[in-house]
Amino acid sequence: MMTPELWTIPPSTISPAELAEKSAALINRLKGISERFKSVRFATSLAAEDMVLTDAICKSKAKIALFTLATGRLHQETVDMVKTTEDHYGITIAKVYPDESDIQAFIDKYGMNGFYEGEEPKKACCGARKIKPLNAALLGADAWLTGQRREQSTTRIDLHFEEHDESRGIAKFNPLFDWTESDIWAYIKQENVPIHPLHLKGYPSIGCEPCTRQVKKGEDIRAGRWWWLQSDSKECGLHVNKQV
Ligand code: ADX
Ligand code: SF4
Repeated sequence: MMTPELWTIPPSTISPAELAEKSAALINRLKGISERFKSVRFATSLAAEDMVLTDAICKSKAKIALFTLATGRLHQETVDMVKTTEDHYGITIAKVYPDESDIQAFIDKYGMNGFYEGEEPKKACCGARKIKPLNAALLGADAWLTGQRREQSTTRIDLHFEEHDESRGIAKFNPLFDWTESDIWAYIKQENVPIHPLHLKGYPSIGCEPCTRQVKKGEDIRAGRWWWLQSDSKECGLHVNKQV
């Protein structure tokens, strides 16, 4: 039997002039955010979009602090990407860990990999490993940034540049909201941005190891995330907001 062809990094469709314009606009967006707010933090997963933002933040010299949610279930490649990125840019990325007691409570109730059993245990696991640590990471911040894009999923079609994060009462920005997948990869190539090695192995989107798999050519780019759930519940709850 033939093995199906996997997703590969898409070719660039943007002209060099358009890319230069888009990159300059991105840097202006970042500078504008850091001028308006005192404590701005960027949540990086180390996947492609977040590497573009990291590169642009460093180039912009905007005062934006980086953190990553070290869920305890990430691929070793993701853990290694933190150091690769820190060394490449000469920056520090804060690692935010879940509470041991929350993890133990999840395991006691559902089992280590209980999230495969349905929506509720998946929510509970993401709650303990991602949402609660995210709340802690954003304490004292007045704005935060994500690498989300409209084109990524039907659940992100209405994404805006600026949103109001109601649960935390702070501003939230998606500076890449209008970038395409091809724009992302064109920027990475142009600026020699370090990339997560799993992008070279059929993974367009990368989350926790047990909840992420490779995607076939032509499949949705988020098809490899929580593949056992309905597509409208393929979000981990990090991103629930109101548009501004
Ligand atoms: S998820 O909600 O399905 O997990 P996705 O992987 O698309 O999200 O990432 C969207 C944005 O959420 C990223 O650009 C990043 O800002 C944030 N994010 C996701 N996972 C993490 C993580 N482990 N640490 C920090 N930020 C993350
Ligand atoms: Fe748990 Fe999977 Fe959510 Fe990671 S993505 S926190 S392992 S359910």
